[in-house]
Amino acid sequence: MTKVISFANQKGGVGKSSLSIQAAFYLARKKKKKVLVVDMDAQGNTSSRVAPRVIDEDGSFEPTLYGTKSADLFKDELDNLEIMKCPHGIDLIHTPQNDPELFEMEAADLDKALNPKRHLTPVFENYDYVIIDCPPSLGRNLVAALVMTTHVACPVKLSGFAIDGVEGLLSTIIGIRETQNNELNILGIIINDMDRSVNHERSLKVLQDAIPEMMFKNKIMHRPPLDTAITDGKPIWELPYGHVAAREVETVMRELLERAK
Ligand SMILES: Nc1ncnc2c1ncn2[C@@H]1O[C@H](COP(=O)(O)OP(=O)(O)O)[C@@H](O)[C@H]1O
Ligand SMILES: [Mg+2]
Repeated sequence: MTKVISFANQKGGVGKSSLSIQAAFYLARKKKKKVLVVDMDAQGNTSSRVAPRVIDEDGSFEPTLYGTKSADLFKDELDNLEIMKCPHGIDLIHTPQNDPELFEMEAADLDKALNPKRHLTPVFENYDYVIIDCPPSLGRNLVAALVMTTHVACPVKLSGFAIDGVEGLLSTIIGIRETQNNELNILGIIINDMDRSVNHERSLKVLQDAIPEMMFKNKIMHRPPLDTAITDGKPIWELPYGHVAAREVETVMRELLERAK
């Protein structure tokens, strides 16, 4: 059975795209799995990192994007669905950078948000894992992602308000599970980009006391090499100075797969 894993949080900058990208690398390269990435965030960050790229003389790069894009999946009729082939053997349904058509879908009718699932269900059968990068919102695009998800993980960056955001997110996910998708499993909360500040320790304790069963045992600390790896579209373990970050990411990936069993 294909596992469809979404990384969701309505806040931006918490690590949804970073974890989506590294999860895809980890599953494709270390676990030799067939992996499809679906980029449901209109910003298209994940697509630009996963896609093949043309490097210019000055070192900047252009991702090469083609085929069906995520916004197309909301159409009632979709004739030929073309999936991109990317480095590391990863397949991708992409979103161009800041795609207005996908932003527009945030306000679409609910029945439109069910179209991506309808179009993709037969496609998903060809993969061991599908990774969905979700938008930083609680709108229709998140609904579209979660109705076709089997397992959702929530990356969280600690702050004084982290608990409020997590409560809103969990109640949205539970609402979708109750009304649209009773196959949806909540894997839990992955603390990412943490430092050892009093503020982070305190807000971690609030979460641990409130929802202990939801918390991943393993965390990812603030690790600049992870940012470099994401920018370069590389698996974290390929960076010469990324050992600590690589170990943390890999430990979280192992826990994620264990929880998804
Ligand atoms: N653990 C971490 N340590 C350092 N930088 C990180 C870490 N996790 C994410 N980042 C960086 O923070 C920024 C936001 O992360 P991103 O994955 O794009 O968040 P989101 O997709 O939730 O908006 C990116 O530049 C990313 O490289
Ligand atoms: Mg993102």
